[in-house]
Amino acid sequence: MKDHLARFSLKGKIAFVTGGAGLLGAEISQALASAGARTIILDLDKKRSQTLVDDIVRAGHQADFTTFDSIRLEKMKDKIDQLVKRYQHLDIWVNCAYPRTEDWSAKSEDIKLASWRKNIDMHLNGYTWLSKLVAEKMQHNGIKGSIVNLASIYGVQGADYALYEKTNMTMPMAYSVIKGGIVNFTRNLASYYGPFGIRVNNVCPGGVFDHQDKNFVKKYEQKVPLRRMARPEDVASAVLFLASEAASYITGATLMVDGGWTIQ
Ligand SMILES: NC(=O)c1ccc[n+]([C@@H]2O[C@H](COP(=O)([O-])OP(=O)(O)OC[C@H]3O[C@@H](n4cnc5c(N)ncnc54)[C@H](O)[C@@H]3O)[C@@H](O)[C@H]2O)c1
Repeated sequence: MKDHLARFSLKGKIAFVTGGAGLLGAEISQALASAGARTIILDLDKKRSQTLVDDIVRAGHQADFTTFDSIRLEKMKDKIDQLVKRYQHLDIWVNCAYPRTEDWSAKSEDIKLASWRKNIDMHLNGYTWLSKLVAEKMQHNGIKGSIVNLASIYGVQGADYALYEKTNMTMPMAYSVIKGGIVNFTRNLASYYGPFGIRVNNVCPGGVFDHQDKNFVKKYEQKVPLRRMARPEDVASAVLFLASEAASYITGATLMVDGGWTIQ
């Protein structure tokens, strides 16, 4: 009988997580490390990254941190080359950074064109250009790796603005452009690199509980069949699955981690 649990192991693998110190990135980094991968946190926040590395290492796993700016696309090819040289390999790459401008959460009517453009460039081009370069590097080095892009429920459907009424929250319009673009680009990249054994998948989380406005949380929970918001570990387990051999025949997929939000 096959050891099916072993297919979830990342022992001996090198994993990189952009935005690895964030709400979701930190949980994903811990999940990959706990499954055996040497996990490299790529983030701008040195303090949070170092604390996370210390926690992971204290728990008996392997992690490291490299300062990384996911929007500096001109420098990205060299940066990936340096990372692979330093860590010797590149098996798993997770795009989980969340670059945004200061006015990201402003009402749609108040968003200026320059800001619209900047957010789309930083986030959409950041994820897609990086995924493309990583896939090229994997192909060049003969690695049958796995790339996972963090998208969103709002990459596959429009937002429900009723949820944001009577709160000071909103859902930035550009988010649908960014996440919709990431979802479909991921499919395309998966098609192009499938013949080389490189897998590229999306994880689409629903809203993750982060102490949002109580009115919002209540309305959100009522809309979700599982009647709760997502937890970081819900998302991290999905990423771990797609990163592992357990998902060896899955590519170009869009895995909804949304408590059933997109069922209807
Ligand atoms: N939190 C949610 O409810 C939710 C839901 C669906 C999808 N997502 C997606 O998950 C991903 C992560 O979201 P999050 O909630 O963990 O965000 P977060 O803000 O908690 O963390 C983002 C991390 O990215 C880092 N970062 C920002 N700009 C960077 C840059 N230029 N280069 C490198 N690192 C940078 C930050 O330092 C931070 O550690 C995003 O793609 C987001 O759209 C989040």
